Amino acid sequence: MAAIRLRNALKLAALASFMFVAGNFGAAWAGENGGVQAKIEYCQICHGQSGQGFYGYYTIPRLAGQQPDYLEAQLRDYASGRRVNSVMANVARGVPPGMIGAIATHFHSMNSPPLGGGSGGNVGLGRQIFETGLPESNVPACSACHGPEAKGTGPIPRLAGQLPSYLVNTLSSWTRNRSRESAGGLAAIMVPTTHNLTPAQMSAVAAYVSTLR
Ligand code: HEC
Ligand code: HEC
Repeated sequence: MAAIRLRNALKLAALASFMFVAGNFGAAWAGENGGVQAKIEYCQICHGQSGQGFYGYYTIPRLAGQQPDYLEAQLRDYASGRRVNSVMANVARGVPPGMIGAIATHFHSMNSPPLGGGSGGNVGLGRQIFETGLPESNVPACSACHGPEAKGTGPIPRLAGQLPSYLVNTLSSWTRNRSRESAGGLAAIMVPTTHNLTPAQMSAVAAYVSTLR
């Protein structure tokens, strides 16, 4: 028990001071006032006041405009461990199920402009991959599922305006962090695509969608 506590303490100490302070401050605040608004403020400490994302020790993804069904599914997946991330596992386990819908609606309604920040990727190539795919590498057109403007629909996420470094990290760690589920999980759909894209192609498509509003 003590060893686990020590390990957890060391892990926390390793986080950037921003995240450490934000996490504790938010947890205390949300504990005092269990309301939805307090919970949303807590999310925004890390995800940005307008849900636009944040460049810190970790890149924290944009939530503004995200599809509610997708956002809800991710919170459930973090809480169950199907999607692996230690920061969001703790956050998600602290969100009462009855609040998830209101939180998802709130972020969906936010319409902040893309935060930007280059990925160094080739935007022209990214656009081509997004719109037509790479048939010779078995990469489908992203637009077929994510929509022509990358806004997503239902359980398919919005990619428009997402931070490029988050997109590249997500695509390159997919099998490790997102597809631990038993059969039937939606994350399995992305597995072949993430394996067939080269790092340069990931940066290119990330650069392109990150500029879309
Ligand atoms: C301490 C910082 C922190 C707080 C507070 C926080 N998040 Fe996160 N969130 C992160 C990080 C870091 C990631 C990226 C994790 C990953 O790569 O899987 C993330 C990822 C997410 C994702 C996945 C986004 C995507 O595009 O797949 C959702 C959804 C999310 N957070 C929702 C929330 C909600 C809702 C709250 C408030 C209840 C919240 N977060 C509070 C740091 C935080
Ligand atoms: C057959 C449909 C389909 C196609 C084609 C597709 N995706 Fe996806 N994508 C999905 C689904 C479904 C998810 C959500 C998976 C989950 O819930 O974990 C997703 C998730 C993602 C995510 C995670 C977003 C986030 O916020 O964490 C990224 C990034 C992504 N796709 C990029 C792409 C790119 C780039 C392409 C084209 C090269 C592409 N996708 C093609 C269905 C598709």
